[in-house]
Amino acid sequence: MCGIVGIIGQKPVVNRLLQGLKRLEYRGYDSAGIAVLGDTSLERRRSPGKIVELEKVIKADPIEGTSGIAHTRWATHGRPSFCNAHPHSSHRVSVVHNGIIENHSELRADLEKKGYIFQSETDTEVIAHLIDSHLTESTLLEAVQASLQQLKGAYALAVLSTEEKTKMVGARLGSPLVVGYGQGEMYLGSDAIALSHLSQKISFLEEGDLVEITRDSATVFNKDFHKVERPVISSEISSEVVDKEGYPHFMLKEIFEQPDVIRRSLQHYLTDSDQLDLNLPFNWADVPKVTLVACGTAYYAGFLAKHWFERFAHVPIEVDIASEFRYRQPPLPAGGLAIFLSQSGETADTLAALRYAKEQKQICLGILNVETSSIAREVDHILPIKAGAEIGVASTKAFMGMVVVLALLLLEASRSKEKIGDTELKQHLLSLRQLPSQLESLLKIRGHLKTLAHQVAQADDVLYLGRGTSYALSLEGALKLKEISYIHAEGYAAGEMKHGPIALIDNTVPIIAIVPKDELYDKAISNVEEAMARDGQVILLSDEKGHHDFSPGIGTNGSSLSDSSSNIERVTLPESTFLTSPLLYTVPIQLLAYEAAVARGEDVDQPRNLAKSVTVE
Ligand code: F6R
Repeated sequence: MCGIVGIIGQKPVVNRLLQGLKRLEYRGYDSAGIAVLGDTSLERRRSPGKIVELEKVIKADPIEGTSGIAHTRWATHGRPSFCNAHPHSSHRVSVVHNGIIENHSELRADLEKKGYIFQSETDTEVIAHLIDSHLTESTLLEAVQASLQQLKGAYALAVLSTEEKTKMVGARLGSPLVVGYGQGEMYLGSDAIALSHLSQKISFLEEGDLVEITRDSATVFNKDFHKVERPVISSEISSEVVDKEGYPHFMLKEIFEQPDVIRRSLQHYLTDSDQLDLNLPFNWADVPKVTLVACGTAYYAGFLAKHWFERFAHVPIEVDIASEFRYRQPPLPAGGLAIFLSQSGETADTLAALRYAKEQKQICLGILNVETSSIAREVDHILPIKAGAEIGVASTKAFMGMVVVLALLLLEASRSKEKIGDTELKQHLLSLRQLPSQLESLLKIRGHLKTLAHQVAQADDVLYLGRGTSYALSLEGALKLKEISYIHAEGYAAGEMKHGPIALIDNTVPIIAIVPKDELYDKAISNVEEAMARDGQVILLSDEKGHHDFSPGIGTNGSSLSDSSSNIERVTLPESTFLTSPLLYTVPIQLLAYEAAVARGEDVDQPRNLAKSVTVE
């Protein structure tokens, strides 16, 4: 999603601003721009498309200065275009903005009456004109503060003005903003990654903060405009740009990193003597209800865990999509446990859901990848997922990391509620310890999946079927495929297929059936038969036993079809338990989506319209 970099300094800034923008590319964007303070004026260069396009514009028409702001825009109000790209400027002011201003239409009408002429369709341009309208009688800081009083919505801002050339003003509400400390210069960034090439010394602004930076100081004011101190910490983000390390895409690299994600997680949460060590701030016996809230892939990780927690730990758990949960205002019993799953820790809806849960006196637990994120700073306790920076927009290793942490949480709950004994716990931990090497072997099926992906890549519609945790995986598989290959895909509970989607099935529809040999196998395999009987082209993911026990076509007359004469392809996975099967079956569904998108020639790491960090609701 949108990204901000700002430098107030003494040395040329253009290249360094562009380097910051490149670090933000992974978040997803569709235009980019830059404004620098020259001797007398603010000069802007902007371009739709990628940062290389902006570089071309700057090369053709160079600018330079020692202070500047830069932005990658992910379109919300107004399509991606030259005019809508940030920075937006008024006479004496230039602004970059992440977030959405909800009352922009009213403000725009007022400003137009005052004679301001708008050049874009964006909500952000009102901020530039509003600040300019306050500047005549105020300092830049006061003008920004007065303008913020009139804004409704979410923002992270960086503002420059020709009136005060040695200052930059920033503000945050609902979107993160970070201050960076340099030698004789200071920075603003939408996250620590944006500033990682400039400084490791950073401080995170809190909700409602306003900051004025000069070359050697940062003065922070809270929402009541009182001066406050925000701690300066040392960022652990390396100044090196994260590299693909020989892989053609970040997504593939991240899929292959998953064995290490599991290893790191187990090392973090298990003692040397294989004891669980989650350090939870509550007793399971005191928890009246568990609510789990997330978006997208993170939601599917939670949905998968619902099945585990109810069936194996007998813990009642409700799982919800953050954008629905936050507005439904569900009653939550005081002392309940609310779990928030998020890779970025910045997802606007998940953050809002967390704030609601806090108001309802829930114990708030974050299962998160970015430990310095906004959600991380607001929850009561964090269980980090140890996936490392995830750059591919389609989440893979973070999903795996979330599911591993949820598996450990499940074991902790089951043990504490005496649903499993020490021996059973040990067996489960052993099966988890064996997972990384199992996954390493499993990743070798990439070649086979690549062949199958060519068939999937031709399709207009794909159906994913599964029961239990495999139903959650079928939803995740369908999401992965549609977001990077743009093929329409749906995940369905296998038993629900006959209540509607079976009407879609013909010989052009690949059906990815996730059917480990578990207690739901017989039921799920009957649903596969039903699909095949309607000419559905099945790709069956199962283990050896599961494949062995399935002979398609044995039915009413007892005859059987061989695979070669039937419409089935088989992918064989290792035998698994209820705990390890979702972790194993995740790999082929990720690889299938990846290879299908590659076969169609799509931009796998930066799919159209998507953003890595969804900081607007
Ligand atoms: C899909 C994907 C998204 C995210 C969702 C939540 O591959 O990446 O669906 O899972 O936007 O993001 P986080 O986990 O950062 O809260």
